[in-house]
Amino acid sequence: MMALRFPKHLLRFFHEFVTPEFCLRQKRFQSGVGQPPKEQTLELDTVMVTGATRGIGLEFVRQLVGLPKPPRIVFATYRNENTLMGLNEIKIRSESTKLEFLRLDVTIQSEITQAAEKVVEVAGFVGLNLLINNAGIARNRMLMDLSPYFMEEHFKTNAVGPVMLVKELLPMLQNAVMNKDWNNPGKFPGLNASKAAVLNISAWSGSLQRAMDPPIFEPEIAYRISKAALNMSMRCLSGLLKSHGILMVQMNPGYVKTSLGRRLVPPHEGLNPIEVSESVSSMLKTLAQCKESQHGGFIERNGAPIPY
Ligand SMILES: NC(=O)c1ccc[n+]([C@@H]2O[C@H](COP(=O)([O-])OP(=O)(O)OC[C@H]3O[C@@H](n4cnc5c(N)ncnc54)[C@H](OP(=O)(O)O)[C@@H]3O)[C@@H](O)[C@H]2O)c1
Repeated sequence: MMALRFPKHLLRFFHEFVTPEFCLRQKRFQSGVGQPPKEQTLELDTVMVTGATRGIGLEFVRQLVGLPKPPRIVFATYRNENTLMGLNEIKIRSESTKLEFLRLDVTIQSEITQAAEKVVEVAGFVGLNLLINNAGIARNRMLMDLSPYFMEEHFKTNAVGPVMLVKELLPMLQNAVMNKDWNNPGKFPGLNASKAAVLNISAWSGSLQRAMDPPIFEPEIAYRISKAALNMSMRCLSGLLKSHGILMVQMNPGYVKTSLGRRLVPPHEGLNPIEVSESVSSMLKTLAQCKESQHGGFIERNGAPIPY
């Protein structure tokens, strides 16, 4: 009978390299142990961005449409048709994403209801994976020039509007959880931005603990209390959202080169604003990594926690 001959160079390979340590390394490699954690990417079907006509909101739409796996539908909200230029430019170039423009002033309840109805009509059982509560105002006034109307306008826009949107869109966020789990069993365990999430664009200046940090800014009083109210209201909703499998975070975009950013910090403060593209790309990157441990949290765009 002919002896089975194993090629010598292969024998040498087994002898020298296929040691028990090698096998263990292979096993660890295959199971992912000891490897740097895989970076999550966003896989969204549907997103809604409020205040999408300019600044951070417009950039969110631009970058969402440009994701490696872009959403199928982005609902971008506006108040005035004359401000749709930037969104129209994105729409023309968008190949995989359908851009739906929704008229929405977040201080008008009937417009919130109508916008939510449109989301139901267009997205249906797919639901809404991500609501970005971005629309906001920031105007400065010294104490002696404050009026109740001025204070209420900030409160209604920056705190009440986002809460009412969560209320109206909750069934669609729930649909998104069910739809994602049904179509991708086990792929998005726990709370995950690709499944269902609310991202609230807050501001570090809404932090009560950091209220005494410089710059202490008397004219920002209306803005700062409205962002503190946003944080508190979302904190109050975090238990409910978690019970429905919906992730929620408050994020500070940084000091960003937008008309609002320029109004917030006058040039003489010596702070360097960042580009809108940089702010939004890091927020999206951080959001993709957010898990249960960040739920209900108040974080910087790079994920660092901010004290409430
Ligand atoms: N820029 C910064 O440095 C900075 C820092 C911290 C936090 N933030 C937060 O980031 C978010 C976006 O700010 P931004 O810098 O991009 O400001 P922006 O350039 O002034 O844009 C604000 C957006 O919000 C919309 N908006 C304002 N009031 C609204 C209302 N009642 N209903 C619906 N939409 C409304 C505006 O729509 P119109 O075009 O119709 O006016 C616009 O699209 C805000 O929540 C802001 O507080 C910004």
